[in-house]
Amino acid sequence: MAHQINLLEKIQQTSEFIKQRVSGKLPETAIILGSGLGALVNHIDIEVEIPYAEVPNFPVSTVEGHKGCLIFGNLAGKYIMAMQGRFHYYEGYSMQEVTFPIRVMKAIGIKTVFVSNAAGGMNPNFRVGDLMIITDHINVFPEHPLHGKNINELGPRFPAMVDAYSPRLVKLAKDIAKEKGVRLMEGVYVGTQGPTFETPAEYRYFWRIGGDAVGMSTVPEVIVARHSDIEVFGISIITDLGVEGAVEKASHEEVQKAAAAAQPIMAMLVQEMITRM
Ligand code: HPA
Repeated sequence: MAHQINLLEKIQQTSEFIKQRVSGKLPETAIILGSGLGALVNHIDIEVEIPYAEVPNFPVSTVEGHKGCLIFGNLAGKYIMAMQGRFHYYEGYSMQEVTFPIRVMKAIGIKTVFVSNAAGGMNPNFRVGDLMIITDHINVFPEHPLHGKNINELGPRFPAMVDAYSPRLVKLAKDIAKEKGVRLMEGVYVGTQGPTFETPAEYRYFWRIGGDAVGMSTVPEVIVARHSDIEVFGISIITDLGVEGAVEKASHEEVQKAAAAAQPIMAMLVQEMITRM
């Protein structure tokens, strides 16, 4: 009981802080920028930038390549919010901490969230540098972000996860890619705790259970976004391959490099989607 009241109070406190900092100018779209995907920020006409360290109740992001800033500004002519850097479960944060920003987004009026990440590809059709629209996910995290007594003010006890990734936005992305002649894959994202990259046997396992790509984020945030009835669009950059018989040894540096190379296309796609939404 105590933790529930606590969470609601924290959400309220943090959202009030943000509302003040942006002088009541509130976006309806948010973007979570994953590993090495911060370059989209260069396209934002920034109005307000708040380091996570200044945001009450926000944990501080620690991992290399994650800056840790909330950004408010204009992207493709629309006022949006961006999270530069996210909180990963493998860093030691609780599921409640990992997903707290989503609760705050809901409280300030966010209706749609774009989630990006770097992922390893199991699908043999994938190449390093490919973009994959997430059409569905498989949750293999050891803890669930909605574990515990449900807080009815935040969402239902048993939220549906069918069409968790907005079919409308998947279609929009595919239409844009087709129009622009951009190679765009689609598939199922497996969310795992990390921080180890997969063994060849694990990549094979994830492929066999229906995954196309695997990464260490996104699934907790998407679950909480759907619990909060926020529309979701997810996109992965395939930074390394876990294709059966041809598994490469992944490294953080390689992941960052491949993510950086694919960023211009991702930035184009996201901007075009935001323009047309
Ligand atoms: N596995 C898990 N997470 C990842 C990978 C991977 O191969 N690549 C980037 N993030």
